[in-house]
Amino acid sequence: MKRDLISMLDVKNNLEEIIDLGIKLKKKSKSGESIELLRGKTLGMIFEKSSTRTRVSFEVGISKLGGHGLFLSKNDIQLGRGESIEDTALVLSRYLDIIMYRAMSNNSMKELAKYATVPVISGLDDKEHPCQVITDLMTIKEKKEKLKDLNFVYIGDGKNNMSHSYLLGCGISGMNIKIVSPKKYWPDSFFVEEAKKFGINVEITDIVKGSTKNADVIATDTWISMGDESEKETRLKDFSGYTVNQPLMQQAKIDAIFMHCLPAYYGYEVTKEVAHGRHSVIIDEAENRMWAQIAIMVTLLK
Ligand code: CP
Ligand code: NVA
Repeated sequence: MKRDLISMLDVKNNLEEIIDLGIKLKKKSKSGESIELLRGKTLGMIFEKSSTRTRVSFEVGISKLGGHGLFLSKNDIQLGRGESIEDTALVLSRYLDIIMYRAMSNNSMKELAKYATVPVISGLDDKEHPCQVITDLMTIKEKKEKLKDLNFVYIGDGKNNMSHSYLLGCGISGMNIKIVSPKKYWPDSFFVEEAKKFGINVEITDIVKGSTKNADVIATDTWISMGDESEKETRLKDFSGYTVNQPLMQQAKIDAIFMHCLPAYYGYEVTKEVAHGRHSVIIDEAENRMWAQIAIMVTLLK
């Protein structure tokens, strides 16, 4: 049976295995050894939204594995002119070995995965961003050499794809999570309840002051995700006071790390001083997209 990765829950039984494989293949490739584990395989990448990291890291990643990547912008394929997701999935499955999809909606994602007969990997939708969160957990493991029992604090839009996938990812890996967000943007209860089932501490609060005390990891994301642009003015008002700044970083543990999936908007969700400061791991995190996705593709095609 084919396996997909469209939610963090799809890797609840093998998350650390994937992370460790990513760390191993990264070391191997950097030492000059070949990692051509998917020789001759073709990855198709359907994009309904813009991307820098997802597009480039998947394309370079599949080529490092000895395979080939195909960029399919929605506007350039018939999907953009009204061909059904069902037919697109059925047809593409006859050419491709694996599909990556960056979708406007989680419903489209689920539909593509339902009809595709090859594995489908989410490159983000409105509910989750699993590749990014697997990457972030890999980066935390590299820096801290463990995940379990760490304290993870996310400040910003609690209702977006990153926040939701962080809740599940922290649950699966045994990290405590605090989401600091205006009440209006608290996460969908489904993700909070699922995270709690793993037995971690889950705290959702709108109080920024003191929220980073004892944190090992502090993360944020844009206040205006792709698709939220029409709410820009309201959101900028709602999130004022939720910027990750130097005083908040200083209240965390001395060796705390700062993460951001990027793209970042300095002066809004984070100051440039923090994002490019001594606690920040954002560029390692961006690089790790490639290594984590290499491990994901190898695992799904095994
Ligand atoms: N973090 C991330 O997914 O970046 P892109 O939108 O550039 O792919
Ligand atoms: N939450 C952001 C993530 C971008 C990688 C968005 O959906 O736009």
